[in-house]
Amino acid sequence: MSTAPLLRIEGLEVAFADGGRRIRALRGLDLSLAAGERLALLGESGSGKSTALFAIAGLLEPGAEVAGRIAFPALGRTPEAGRDLGLVFQDPFASLDPVLDVATQIAEPIRYHLGASWAAARAQAVVLLRRVGIARAEQRARDAPHRFSGGERQRIAIAAAIAAGPRLLLADEPTAALDTVTQAQILDLLDGLVREQRTALLLVTHDPAVAARIADRIAVLYAGRCVEAGPSARLLAAPRHPYSRALLAAALDLERPPPRPLPEIPGEPPDPTAELAGCPFAPRCAFAWATCRSERPAWIGEPGDGAACHLLRP
Ligand SMILES: Nc1ncnc2c1ncn2[C@@H]1O[C@H](COP(=O)(O)OP(=O)(O)OP(=O)(O)O)[C@@H](O)[C@H]1O
Ligand SMILES: [Mg+2]
Repeated sequence: MSTAPLLRIEGLEVAFADGGRRIRALRGLDLSLAAGERLALLGESGSGKSTALFAIAGLLEPGAEVAGRIAFPALGRTPEAGRDLGLVFQDPFASLDPVLDVATQIAEPIRYHLGASWAAARAQAVVLLRRVGIARAEQRARDAPHRFSGGERQRIAIAAAIAAGPRLLLADEPTAALDTVTQAQILDLLDGLVREQRTALLLVTHDPAVAARIADRIAVLYAGRCVEAGPSARLLAAPRHPYSRALLAAALDLERPPPRPLPEIPGEPPDPTAELAGCPFAPRCAFAWATCRSERPAWIGEPGDGAACHLLRP
C-alpha cells in the first residue's frame, strides 16, 4: 500500500495585486495531507485559509502571483474539480445553481465524471439526497435550491460535492452561517460521509470547537504560514506555539455556552503588504525576543506534528 501523501504543499506563496498594493496572502505555507485524513485549517480572518483552499483547487484568480509547490503524490495526476476534488463553501449558493432543480445538480457530476446515464445519475442523486438527510427526497428532488432551508441547502451542496466520489473534499467554513444545532448536524454529516467514502477532508474554520469536532489533525495558520500542526488531541490539549495557546485558551472554554467568542489577543496580525523578517507573531507574543523579530523560526518536531517557534529550539 502506498504511503505517499494525497496532498503536499511546500513553500506556497500567493500574492494579490490590490490597487497599487501587493497583498501577501500566503507567505511560505507548508502542509501535508494523507489519504482519508481529516485536517482542519484553523486561523483568524485574513490568515490565508481561503486562499490556500483556492490554490489547492486551482481556482485562484488569474492575476494572483503564485510560487512554491502543490503536489498530489497519491493521485498521480492533476486533480480535476468535481471528479477528484469536491468543494463546499460557506454560502451554498456559491456552489448551487439557483434555477436548476437539486437532483439535476447532483446528477450532473455523476453523469459527466462517472459516465452514468441521466436516468441512473438522477436515481443516484435521490439516493444521495436521502443520505444527506433530505426528507421526501423523491418529490423534493425536482425543487430548486431556494425552496430549501439554509441547513438543507448546505446538505444538498455537500451531496453535489461528493457525488462523483472525490479523493479530497475542500470545505470553507461550511457551517459558519448556520445556527449551532444545525452546525453540529452538518459536521456530523460531513464526518459520516468522508468516513464512508474514505475521502480526505480539508476543512477551513476560525472556530477551534469546529476543528475539535471533526479533525484528525489541525494546522494553525497565522499570517499566511502554518505556525503549528499536529493530531487534534495533542494540539488541543498541549498547544506548543504561543499563538495556538492564546487562540485555544478562551475559545475552547467549553463550559461557556456557544457562541464562544474568539479570545482577545492583544495587538493585530501583521500588515499583509509588509515584508516579514522573523516570526509573524513576534509583535504580539509575550515571549518574543530579538531573534524572533529577525529570524524566521524553523519547524521543530515531526513534519505533521510540530511548530515553528524559536522558544521550542532545543
Ligand atoms: N482576490 C483578492 N485580492 C486582494 N486581496 C485578497 C484577495 N483574496 C484575499 N485577499 C487578501 O489576502 C489575505 C488572506 O485572505 P483569505 O481570504 O485567504 O483569508 P481567510 O483566512 O480565508 O479569512 P476569513 O476567515 O475572513 O475568510 C487577506 O489580507 C485578504 O484581504
Ligand atoms: Mg476565508
